[in-house]
Amino acid sequence: MSYKENLKKSFRLGLEKYNINAEIQMNIAHSLVAILPEIEQPKVLEIGCGTGFLTEKLFKKYPKGQFDITDLCPTMVDYCKKKFYTKNTRFFEIDGEKIKSSNLFFKACKYDLIVTSMVLHWFENPLVTIKNLKHLGPIFYSTIGEKNFIEWQKILLELKLSNSIFPVYKIPGKLKEEFFPCEQVNLIRFFKSLKDTGTGLSGVNQSRISVKNCRQILKVFNTEAPKTMTWHIVYGVIN
Ligand SMILES: C[S@@+](CC[C@H](N)C(=O)[O-])C[C@H]1O[C@@H](n2cnc3c(N)ncnc32)[C@H](O)[C@@H]1O
Repeated sequence: MSYKENLKKSFRLGLEKYNINAEIQMNIAHSLVAILPEIEQPKVLEIGCGTGFLTEKLFKKYPKGQFDITDLCPTMVDYCKKKFYTKNTRFFEIDGEKIKSSNLFFKACKYDLIVTSMVLHWFENPLVTIKNLKHLGPIFYSTIGEKNFIEWQKILLELKLSNSIFPVYKIPGKLKEEFFPCEQVNLIRFFKSLKDTGTGLSGVNQSRISVKNCRQILKVFNTEAPKTMTWHIVYGVIN
């Protein structure tokens, strides 16, 4: 199965539990909306709507806006369509990395805002994609930063498992960053909750961790206190 097919499957399977487990994503959507400009009637493109945490906030911020809401995963698009159906909104199942070259209406479109929360790190070629997309409008984003789960990264480095660290690209246009520490983490439960938000998947070129290595990691993590796992989130705009 291709990387993108895996991604679709993983988010489809995670949908039911996403709303319960995605408190962090909700906070991130809130922070992203705070950096968006005030525009009376913007034309907005959202990439990777998921279950609509950001979508809902966009509707509130821009009650007179026109929206194109998209996701790679058809299940997410259907979910949002049912949840939010309104007059000024269109929904599309489309890969954000193919929007620029698609034969849909996008080719001729310009947007006042392109908005995407917690999606860029799932792209295969985020730097190429944002370079193409920025011709359609300014891209406001949130994504994971290079210090995401730094506690986990440190252990993997210590055990010489750096190939298994989730690959993070430095996205240009950074405006601010936030750290969300999760305290007293039980590592197994923590990764299960990530899986339940559809994000238990490996990144592009990331090596899987063997059961033997998992045991080693657990041993190190459990002997270190406090058992924190910290999200590092970067927000920015690409013009
Ligand atoms: C972590 S969720 C974030 C959802 C939502 N933006 C939020 O903040 O709750 C990531 C979403 O991005 C979608 N996604 C991943 N890769 C994508 C791509 N190449 N194009 C469009 N959507 C993508 C997934 O299907 C999933 O719905």
